[in-house]
Amino acid sequence: MTSRPPLIFSAFNEFVLSHHDHGGWRRADSRQADLNSSTYWVDLAKTLERGKFDFLFFADVLAPYDLYRGNRDAAISTGMQTPVNDPAVLIPILAHETEHLGFVLTENILQEPPYTFARKLSTLDHLSGGRIAWNIVTSFLPGAGRNLGHSGLPSHEERYGRAEDYVTAVYKLWEASWEDDAVIADRERGIYTDPTKVHTIDHVGPYYTVPGPHLTTPSPQRTPFLFNAAASGTGIGFAGKHAEVLFTTGGRQGAPASVAQLRAAAVEQGRAASDVKIFGGLGIVVGSTEAEARRLDAELRETQSLESMLVKFSGFWQEDLDRYPLTATVGELRESGAPGPITRQVLAGADPSITFEALVRAAANSHVTGTPEQIADEIDAWQDAGVDGINVQYLVSPGTFEDFVDHVRPVLVERGTMQADYRPGTVREKVTGGGPYLPERHPARRVRAELAAARAEVRR
Ligand SMILES: Cc1cc2nc3c(=O)[nH]c(=O)nc-3n(C[C@H](O)[C@H](O)[C@H](O)COP(=O)(O)O)c2cc1C
Repeated sequence: MTSRPPLIFSAFNEFVLSHHDHGGWRRADSRQADLNSSTYWVDLAKTLERGKFDFLFFADVLAPYDLYRGNRDAAISTGMQTPVNDPAVLIPILAHETEHLGFVLTENILQEPPYTFARKLSTLDHLSGGRIAWNIVTSFLPGAGRNLGHSGLPSHEERYGRAEDYVTAVYKLWEASWEDDAVIADRERGIYTDPTKVHTIDHVGPYYTVPGPHLTTPSPQRTPFLFNAAASGTGIGFAGKHAEVLFTTGGRQGAPASVAQLRAAAVEQGRAASDVKIFGGLGIVVGSTEAEARRLDAELRETQSLESMLVKFSGFWQEDLDRYPLTATVGELRESGAPGPITRQVLAGADPSITFEALVRAAANSHVTGTPEQIADEIDAWQDAGVDGINVQYLVSPGTFEDFVDHVRPVLVERGTMQADYRPGTVREKVTGGGPYLPERHPARRVRAELAAARAEVRR
């Protein structure tokens, strides 16, 4: 039907019981309660690889959501993103059991020093044969800041200042420390690595000081494939400079404007508009007939916990939503002047006649429900809106992903909207069609060139 390239597909997940489903784990056909079993995740990764998904995306948080009612009880009782295990420990197991699937590891820049983080990612990139992506996040949970030794979350401005310094330090380690031909593995002379080709990076930034050198040999991609989700002006500036995958805001209707803004942010940083792949997010409920899909949707909504939704959106909208009466209408809340800026924005875009409860339930259930063809139509409409990829969100796992692979994928492949098979190479090569490393115009490669030039200058 079209000559445009297939979309990129990512399965949106977290090493948790419950990510955005708000209760799917309670169903008899859910395996989410097996979260501590590697078998559940290996089976899921194999299903995704069978369906030629590009990525299994692991979000991450480092504190229970605790804004709702000023405590963590509801997050813990409903299992909403707590418990949450460490995805960096799971990914090597999944990589060993798959051949092509990429893995997105979310790690917050406050979490560990850039030096150990860079080594960890290089190790993962080696072990997976170049299938690692890093989702760069600055966190939104005050509890995460406290758990990492800060008095709360550092200010938004400081977090992005730290992020810039952090990525610069890790770029230097990944790109500029070991030369391509440093390893000679000369058994006869007993020389494994030429020490003149392994360099310190001597990074001294406003927040981090890292002398180096990097501890591992250059991994297949050197710098892992880079994701970032931003919403603020500062965040979009950062994402435009660094990220290779970005996310739209504002749903499908808002996608054309959001895509234009994100591509412009990349161009402003001296990158090509096509250097950034932009993803929309989509939950799906699929049935062989529309009536069957609606039945399943109703069943899933039945298991959902409103409290779990309020916990999550208190975190996302950055205020305790318990302050708003569930039966008040959006119009009434607008008039009463909701104090939170994000909530105000959400209310401004909503139907004034619906209740606050209906607004929260709708926000938690922006998925599409229908036959495989109807879901494929929706995905095509996302592509028409300008996105390059879709982050598929589950309502029940692994059911949502199995339904997608078994029923929606064949329609998408038929239409040319989903790849029939993987391309060879690292995940960057598969997804961009380019080389294993970042393009030379990316700041990571510019750092590499700058450090090489400085070394040449010293030698002269
Ligand atoms: C698809 C997607 C995934 C995200 N995953 C995480 C995550 O795992 N951990 C996290 O702390 N923040 C996550 N975020 C939140 C973003 O990192 C960011 O805080 C948010 O989009 C606000 O952007 P801003 O920092 O520019 O205000 C995610 C956002 C999106 C859209």
